[in-house]
Amino acid sequence: MDRRTFVVQLATATAAPFLRVQPSATPLRADGARVNAALASFDAIGRMPGGINRVAYSDADLAGRAFALDLVRASGLAPRVDAAGNIVVRLDGAEPTLPPIVIGSHIDSVTDGGNFDGPVGSFGAIEVARSLKAQRVTLRHPLEAVIWQNEEGGTIGSKLAIGALEGAGLDAVARSGKTIREGVVRVGGSVERLGDAVRGKGSVHCYLELHIEQGGTLERTSRQIGTVTGIVGLRWLDVAIDGFANHAGTTPMDQRQDALLAAAKFTVAVNDTIRSAPGRQVATVGRMVAAPNTRNVIPGRVELTVDLRDLDPAVLDRFEAHIRQAAADIAKATGTTFAVTNSVNSTPAISDDRLMEAIDRSTASLGFTGSRLPSGAGHDAQEMAQVAPMAMIFVPSVGGISHSPREFTRAQDVANGVDVLLNAVVAADRL
Ligand code: GLV
Ligand code: MN
Ligand code: MN
Repeated sequence: MDRRTFVVQLATATAAPFLRVQPSATPLRADGARVNAALASFDAIGRMPGGINRVAYSDADLAGRAFALDLVRASGLAPRVDAAGNIVVRLDGAEPTLPPIVIGSHIDSVTDGGNFDGPVGSFGAIEVARSLKAQRVTLRHPLEAVIWQNEEGGTIGSKLAIGALEGAGLDAVARSGKTIREGVVRVGGSVERLGDAVRGKGSVHCYLELHIEQGGTLERTSRQIGTVTGIVGLRWLDVAIDGFANHAGTTPMDQRQDALLAAAKFTVAVNDTIRSAPGRQVATVGRMVAAPNTRNVIPGRVELTVDLRDLDPAVLDRFEAHIRQAAADIAKATGTTFAVTNSVNSTPAISDDRLMEAIDRSTASLGFTGSRLPSGAGHDAQEMAQVAPMAMIFVPSVGGISHSPREFTRAQDVANGVDVLLNAVVAADRL
């Protein structure tokens, strides 16, 4: 699929049923019950009253990774942790000189998130490796199931794996309070040897990722499986607003430099700017911290974040420029200063046609209904798309809810997705 077709499809946001796929020979089956059992046990790790909290490099993330390593070993497979801190499980292929098929996802979570965003594809990938081994299916290519570290902090593990993050980027502070540099060491990698984990262009046969949809299109259209046509790009901006902290009772209204008032105006301006033009671009001010955050003091400083997404890099450029201009205008009007820095960029990615067909065929051969749809969420797959052909498999999210404790995907849908991944891997091996 070319970018223009994808943009048109994204703009109309339809789920297009595919019709032209013929079911092929008897498909393989994985043990979906094993994946669902792993998900059920995993739910206890990082579970807090507000939801799942396994933010990257936290103690709960480390506990999650220990769980995953145990799961791999219990599956009769041998895990290793690469220099970037990604967990890698390898099955040899019949032709050892061929580049590997890579499959995987992540197990870190957002703050107060759910148990399905990432773990479904991670444990699904381990199950695919286990099933192939148990069923004595030897692929031509080696297979690598990977659990990428710190997806939610900006696809960090996969960025490291394509050599897209180095130098000052490693000093960025993750949600856990640890820098990426500290995090890499904490999860068993090595900052000095990061180059060892880099996968260059052509070093990977293809990349496939199973994931929950995180939106409501499959559920709304009664489809069991989604073949992802492409993934939006994102820009994360960190904004620091400095005003002047002063007495809330004695400072007249016309003599204030209120950083929180400026932040409020800026939040509205981001929303207005994004909505002022047609298209599927989205932007969110999702985090705001005021200081001193006290009832009777005018806020002197605010730090906030902007998450901006679209498929088209030119649209991202345009709206980032509008947002920066809004910051400059509001700074002037409120007597504050705005420092806007770009902390994370992820490039939009288009799925590979032949891999999408392989997924469509696997879906049909298993008797599932499928459709093609774009991803509005970010994924490690979009980083891997820069070095290899990529495609993704979506399974339905109940109510279209994700990044929430109410995130849920039915056990049958998880099992269906793992079966599709297994057969898509077998099909991709023949490409
Ligand atoms: C990752 O889940 C993202 O889309 O933010
Ligand atoms: Mn997520
Ligand atoms: Mn995810």
